[in-house]
Amino acid sequence: MKKVLHQKREGFSSSIGVIAAVLGSAVGLGNIWKFPYVTGANGGAAFILVYLLCLALVGVPVMLSEHLIGRHTKANAVGAFKVLQPRRPWYLVGGAGVLSAFLIMAFYTTVAGWVYAYIFKAAGGALLSAKPEETTLVFNTLVSGVGEPLFWQIFVLLVIGTIIMAGVTKGIERVTKVLMPLLFILLVIIDIRSLTLPGAGEGLSFLFKPDFSKITIGVILAALGLAFFKLSVGMGAMITYGSYVNKSENLPKMAIKVALADTLVSLMAGIAIFPAVFAFGFKPNAGPSLLFITIPTVFNSMPFGRVFMSLFFVLTAIAATGAMLSLLEVPVAYLTEQYQWTRRKATMVTILGIGLLGSTATLSNSLFAKVTVFGKTFFDFYDFSTSNILLPVGGIFIALFVGWQWGYVNVKREMSNEGQLTNDRLVRIFMFLVEYIVPFAIALVLLAGLNIIHF
Ligand code: TRP
Repeated sequence: MKKVLHQKREGFSSSIGVIAAVLGSAVGLGNIWKFPYVTGANGGAAFILVYLLCLALVGVPVMLSEHLIGRHTKANAVGAFKVLQPRRPWYLVGGAGVLSAFLIMAFYTTVAGWVYAYIFKAAGGALLSAKPEETTLVFNTLVSGVGEPLFWQIFVLLVIGTIIMAGVTKGIERVTKVLMPLLFILLVIIDIRSLTLPGAGEGLSFLFKPDFSKITIGVILAALGLAFFKLSVGMGAMITYGSYVNKSENLPKMAIKVALADTLVSLMAGIAIFPAVFAFGFKPNAGPSLLFITIPTVFNSMPFGRVFMSLFFVLTAIAATGAMLSLLEVPVAYLTEQYQWTRRKATMVTILGIGLLGSTATLSNSLFAKVTVFGKTFFDFYDFSTSNILLPVGGIFIALFVGWQWGYVNVKREMSNEGQLTNDRLVRIFMFLVEYIVPFAIALVLLAGLNIIHF
């Protein structure tokens, strides 16, 4: 551990840079691909309400916990626990986080590869049919291929590997700062088109009119899992990013801002997609293919559709890329700090590992279509086991650690920037949440959602 302290550490250089990087981690395929399809599969508005509750009561407190630990220790996911509790096995929480990063990246790079491929398909005119069956066919051909999706997955890994090797300030911060605002502007344009489609109303009521009979314990578990995935919490990515944050940032404010902005982006993606789903006779519960089939259809019914469609996938690719940087940074920071590897070596070894594991996810619609783990394809297994199990379990331990191990006095000092901010009430509410609500709520939802206990 001593060596870590001697190392010169990089960090984010400005408040805008911090927000861009943290929001860049949160906003990703989770908003544009996952949020719509999970919402569609779980019945719409009622699911969204449960999701918002999970976000406020569990997601934000865990994000803040991670930022506090990270900024205080200035260390990676494993190192942070070792600094605070050198003699207890809490660092295993960070270790599980490093493992989760690989599992998430395995399927995330698959989907990011599809998105990158779609940029070229859209620009080249391959998606120019207004017939839903034809856009469906384009998607199915891509995902059930071998060479094409693998090529794009490797391409994605090389892009993010290059950015990560450039470093925290010159890589992560510089890239996310430019690209986040662009994403937002394009979403506004698409929403306008989508809202003016004939029949948009049905999609909107699906999104905003709750039907509470649709809520089951499985739905609640999905909402909780999505909250973790969305905010990039439960595995130490926010510990790692927190470690690059300046001592003068207001951390609770930042966590709330990021959660609000992230939710706005998700809802805007929902508004882009659901009116079209209903207007063109698609099913809202299509699953992971939803985005790739509805979005081309929306654009095909508007002037300059090809241009906008290409831009949309460029920006989705950007969002996915910003998110992947935070996932890749977790093992890279761990390997460089705990084992003194160079950034270059750590990045190369990590993307190689992700590429090998990830190919099993990419090929789960072709070569490995019949291979299952606990009844799921590789792709679905990596997705389910991380979002719905590893991240929530990580969240329990992070909350317990901050609430019961690190404790009130330390939390207050870090959260108030050594007494510079007066936020004592907030500190108390936060402590109550991480001591009791977060661990208990997650444990209950997990045990019930996985059918271990029954009501
Ligand atoms: N939040 C990102 C998204 O919504 C995904 C992500 C990035 C993530 N880093 C993470 C998920 C760390 C869990 C943990 O697309």
